[in-house]
Amino acid sequence: KKVVLAYSGGLDTSVIVKWLQETYNCEVVTFTADIGQGEEVEPARAKAQALGVKEIYIEDLREEFVRDYVYPMFRANTIYEGEYLLGTSIARPLIAKRLIEIANETGADAISHGATGKGNDQVRFELGAYALKPGVKVIAPWREWDLNSREKLMAYCDEHSIPVDFSSKKKKSPYSMDANLLHISYEGGILEDPWAEAEEDMWRWSVSPEAAPDQPTYIELTYEKGDIVAIDGQAMKPHEVLEALNKLGGANGIGRLDIVENRYVGMKSRGCYETPGGTIMLKAHRAIESLTLDREAAHLKDELMPKYAKVIYNGYWWSPERKMLQAAIDATQDNVSGVVRIKLYKGSATVVGRQSAESLFDESIATFEDDAGAYDQKDAEGFIKLNALRLRIAAGKGRKQD
Ligand code: ARG
Ligand code: SIN
Repeated sequence: KKVVLAYSGGLDTSVIVKWLQETYNCEVVTFTADIGQGEEVEPARAKAQALGVKEIYIEDLREEFVRDYVYPMFRANTIYEGEYLLGTSIARPLIAKRLIEIANETGADAISHGATGKGNDQVRFELGAYALKPGVKVIAPWREWDLNSREKLMAYCDEHSIPVDFSSKKKKSPYSMDANLLHISYEGGILEDPWAEAEEDMWRWSVSPEAAPDQPTYIELTYEKGDIVAIDGQAMKPHEVLEALNKLGGANGIGRLDIVENRYVGMKSRGCYETPGGTIMLKAHRAIESLTLDREAAHLKDELMPKYAKVIYNGYWWSPERKMLQAAIDATQDNVSGVVRIKLYKGSATVVGRQSAESLFDESIATFEDDAGAYDQKDAEGFIKLNALRLRIAAGKGRKQD
């Protein structure tokens, strides 16, 4: 028997390696990915080796992550419950996919992960896994073992001589964190009180708006078919774009968020997020669409968006409904090309200009000055009268307004 584990190299997943070997008497294959979490992944190799792991996968998935997951999601202007940019949610389908591919390569029949039984991540990993390999066995140690406190985990480390530096290397953050190129998240600790304000030193990716520079930073983002392809005229790959925007946004205090959200399993949970680049991308994409998208297509996209966000949040990336929504969204992006100019200043990203060769904005029609017959204002009279017809009939028959 063989199981592929999503392995971070940290204490928790190191304990899981040992626990799987002991409890299931199985061969463990570890999979560690760089998706831009900002920590070295290579050290995971020696750690896995020390735990007796023979098949060790360490991969740089940053390009694939942003190109095939983050960018498609941003074409829809996706936000969950009006606020959350889905930084963690969007990374899970890729991890699930690689877990299954590695299981197939190594002849493993099971996968395992370090998500708890209380959260969204377990759902996302497992829905993805089942969608891609229907007969796969899933082992979720947090739902099975009784190592539900740090003390118990440490004791387990001692008993099983899991190398000390796994645990004592650096002081454990008081928060449950998750990071990738799109965001870093914080949950737990003092945040479990929704009234308690996060301490300033919790935030790792951005300066506070108060501490941001007094001079604004202007940037120009070039779009091609709904995707950013250059910053200030310099062509970049998707993950390079996001990396650069994270730096620019973080330096200007952009992208901090503090919310209470509804988890799929039913509970409310409080989370803090830093999404500097994503916050800029959302604004900019709306701006380029404002110039290039037909009104009804844009409005229909906006109606579909909350549904699409929920599909991703709840873990149904690998589903027919996500595919269907994606096809509809992508079909609107053919003309979403041009340049957006943005001002970054003390926590806000403000669009100050937009231009496009595909623009539907017609100055000769929109002008308040003489339009030389481009638009006949008399046409508006009949337009309004016919639209008012049913209102006039009802009022004529004595229908009251309230
Ligand atoms: N609440 C967010 C979400 O469900 C963030 C989850 C963070 N995950 C973690 N393992 N710390 O997408
Ligand atoms: C976890 O419970 O593993 C993290 C939080 C979540 O998945 O929602």
